[in-house]
Amino acid sequence: FENEHTLRRFLVEKAEGQFHDRYEKALEAARSEFGKKYPMIIGGRQVLAARTVPHASPIDTRVVLGRMPAGTAIHARQAIASAKKAFEAWGKSEWQKRVKIFRKAADIMSERKFELAAWVSYENGKNRYEAIGDVDEAIDFVRYYAEEVERNNGFEVQMKSAQPNEKSKSVMKPYGVWGVIAPFNFPAAILTGMTTAALVTGNTVVVKPSSDAPITAFKIIQIFQEAGLPDGALNMVFGSGGTVGAEIVKSRDVSGIVFTGSREVGYSMGRQFSSEKPRPLIAELGGKNPAIITETADLGKAVDGVMKAAFGYSGQKCSACSRVFVHKKVRDEFLRRLVEKTKDLPVGNPLEQNTFMGPVVNKSAYKKYQQYSRLADRDGKVLAGGYVRKDGDLKHGYYVAPTIVTGLPKKHRLFQEEMFVPILCVTDYEKFDDALRMANDVDYGLTAGIFTGDQGEVKKFLDHIEAGVVYVNRQASATTGAMVGCQPFGGWKDSGTTGKNTGGPHYLTQFMREQSQTIVD
Ligand code: NAD
Ligand code: ALA
Repeated sequence: FENEHTLRRFLVEKAEGQFHDRYEKALEAARSEFGKKYPMIIGGRQVLAARTVPHASPIDTRVVLGRMPAGTAIHARQAIASAKKAFEAWGKSEWQKRVKIFRKAADIMSERKFELAAWVSYENGKNRYEAIGDVDEAIDFVRYYAEEVERNNGFEVQMKSAQPNEKSKSVMKPYGVWGVIAPFNFPAAILTGMTTAALVTGNTVVVKPSSDAPITAFKIIQIFQEAGLPDGALNMVFGSGGTVGAEIVKSRDVSGIVFTGSREVGYSMGRQFSSEKPRPLIAELGGKNPAIITETADLGKAVDGVMKAAFGYSGQKCSACSRVFVHKKVRDEFLRRLVEKTKDLPVGNPLEQNTFMGPVVNKSAYKKYQQYSRLADRDGKVLAGGYVRKDGDLKHGYYVAPTIVTGLPKKHRLFQEEMFVPILCVTDYEKFDDALRMANDVDYGLTAGIFTGDQGEVKKFLDHIEAGVVYVNRQASATTGAMVGCQPFGGWKDSGTTGKNTGGPHYLTQFMREQSQTIVD
């Protein structure tokens, strides 16, 4: 398994001028499709709804990217029925056949990478590097999960014989229909990863994409169909979480749900779905991710790592760094450098080559940023940002400034709540144990980072930090940017339900149930 994105490959493409050319041509091609009406996919057919909803770009809300069907509970039920029927054959299909289809899908995605990335940028406001990274990660998930099935021989294991005339084996079998409910922020990677995991293990699915990124989802589903998935195995219904999502959660014909999104939605889903009857719910949820900067840290690395993790994709990664605990002795120098770099960050239209930070995803995120900024200003000291951008064309989109706040009480809301906007809270500490305690003193436990030159602190951090994904001295990004097959990704505590990370060796078994088979001669 080789990751789609490698720095080497990227540098070659960039040097040869291919990267920017291909991305810009893809933007142009996407523009020619603006305003198109999209169908849902149910039982292999394209299905329209009675009503459509205009889907605008956060880059400029005057631009209507497409008209999306407002799916209803009836569409969700039809999709579940189609998936149930398709499971009769797909659930018994040979794993070799499934793996072949997904490898083909990965190849098609790779060929159409720039097209998908252009739509990710238009729909989500990711800059070109983040958008390509999202699609690369999607391709990695497909290849990695296909390889995992193969490496595990379809998850079939010969067991010991209990009697001389008996032969026994353990066989992992799919459950049936799975609901795949996806978030907005990795519209290619997360949707593709969850969908592939459910399907490659033999389940059939109904996908409910985020209303903020439906077109990327539509294109990915089409690629899976083109790769050879049978009709009905993969269905997609657009619509709101409260109608289409809720119907999937309510249905007794759904055997499992894989969800990535906020803790609030995940927990309410869990209360209903799991109380109805025992069945698997894999939920990857929010984060409130800390970075600790000790007095022996390389401050240059720490500043780069924190800045990228806090403000990359406008702070809208579940892995984003939103809390920093910095040793009192290096606090001023760290903050001076961080603030200087942050004020210089190119914020603006993400389609432009040098933009680091584009808009936040929608009006509700824009308002949330303003509310949290007001609180930061009232209760702490805002060192950078704290305002929305209204200059020039930016007034037509949801642009905000990357924000650093200090001087907040340590139990302040901004230190506890997942904000999901580019606001970073910084405080200092004297004793390392206090930094660790504060880092762990939240409900969440997704990612965490440390910058230190002291190996004793590294060990203590790794022994005590409560998070599913941790990084030491990572200048590339303090807490974000896990790579499939290299850094399995998932949350502890309120950040996830299973403790088995995506893109890692334990993930796929959750989509299957074990059958112990014994044949007597
Ligand atoms: P969200 O919870 O608002 O929505 C996620 C999905 O759930 C959407 O498709 C939405 O339509 C659907 N939904 C909403 N209400 C529903 C209901 N009542 N029943 C069924 N479905 C419903 O999350 P979001 O804003 O799209 O994404 C951001 C959140 O996702 C953040 O909290 C972030 O930390 C989290 N996230 C976590 C991970 C991870 O791996 N742990 C990765 C990415 C994002
Ligand atoms: N894979 C993404 C990251 O690590 C979520 O930032």
